[in-house]
Amino acid sequence: MKKYFITGGCGFIGSNFIRYIFNHDDSAVIINLDKLTYAGNLKNLAEFNNSERYFFYQGDICDSKIVKEIFKKHKPDYLINFAAETHVDRSLGEPDDFIQTDIFGAFNLLETAREFGLERFIQISTDEVYGSIEKGSFSETDALMPRNPYSASKAGADRLAYSYFATYDLPVIITRASNNYGPYQFPEKLIPLFVTNAIEDKKLPVYGDGKNVRDWLYVDDHCEAIQYIIDSGKVGEIYNIGGGNELTNIQITDLILKETNKPESLKQFIRDRLGHDRRYSLNCEKLTNIGWRPKHDFHKAMKFTIDWYKQNGDWWKPLKSGEYLKYYKKHYKEL
Ligand code: NAD
Ligand code: TYD
Repeated sequence: MKKYFITGGCGFIGSNFIRYIFNHDDSAVIINLDKLTYAGNLKNLAEFNNSERYFFYQGDICDSKIVKEIFKKHKPDYLINFAAETHVDRSLGEPDDFIQTDIFGAFNLLETAREFGLERFIQISTDEVYGSIEKGSFSETDALMPRNPYSASKAGADRLAYSYFATYDLPVIITRASNNYGPYQFPEKLIPLFVTNAIEDKKLPVYGDGKNVRDWLYVDDHCEAIQYIIDSGKVGEIYNIGGGNELTNIQITDLILKETNKPESLKQFIRDRLGHDRRYSLNCEKLTNIGWRPKHDFHKAMKFTIDWYKQNGDWWKPLKSGEYLKYYKKHYKEL
């Protein structure tokens, strides 16, 4: 029986990961610590509320008391740190929480893991720590050059996690994945924002010239890769995880308009994001060399994702109201 201590499990990737584990391991125990910020949603995991193998704690990864209590009570084998502030645009206006959660929170988890011991500490980092690359792709040994407060705070945690391996032999592994898409993603990120706006006949706000490139990874592939790395990865190592689907934001926008049968006129170019990274690209040979590659076809998984948002208005409509609407109107004042 494996015990997984998941932080940020009520967010997009964390909740998909918990579902993935429960679908693939009949005896796994999951302990989920989540602060329930605007991005955390109990509905993402409602189906597990009555499971005897699921324990939820509402709390902050920066709070050493609750983290210690969880270690004492559950003695987890693995800690997978998904908890973070994650939206680049928000980090441009209000970076404080990013520094606190993404760096100090990771530090607190590492310190407690060092005190109690465990099998694996997986730090979920991101391809954004490398910064932008015009040509070619980043390998794990390339220098980090984060260019916004989100990616800089993630780079801080990434290197801090490594330092706990190098200094204290904590069994740390770091993963750097590309942009994820799939069900349960908060409708502030490109794909869920554009899909839900299209469904509601609202404008799709494309930053700058729309030629920025991201590599897109289906969230289930990401979850599978994390599990693969827990089982087969080497401690002290970093693994890039990419989907092999590099597209411009215009290509993504056009695909969404086509799949939702909405007119081109919904596409609106607006003022560029400050310090907008032009292109992210990963060389994933290190992971393919140990035997893992993504399984999902991009077009099929995108169609499935778009259908999921079409069918789950009950999930996303409440999220696009209240505080979110204030943020949205302030951020996209050109629309
Ligand atoms: P998300 O914003 O959807 O979810 C973040 C979760 O963390 C939420 O449930 C939130 O309540 C929780 N949280 C925030 N601060 C917390 C705190 N102080 N204590 C406890 N819980 C807290 O994020 P996501 O898209 O699921 O990303 C998960 C992780 O994966 C992040 O570390 C992110 O940097 C990384 N990542 C994301 C992507 C992507 O495309 N989404 C790509 C690569 C890496
Ligand atoms: P995002 O989903 O915020 O992810 P990240 O910036 O972490 O890669 O954005 C993906 C791309 O889409 C990025 O180039 C910015 C762009 N974008 C827009 O053009 N309009 C939008 O409203 C948003 C949210 C993003």
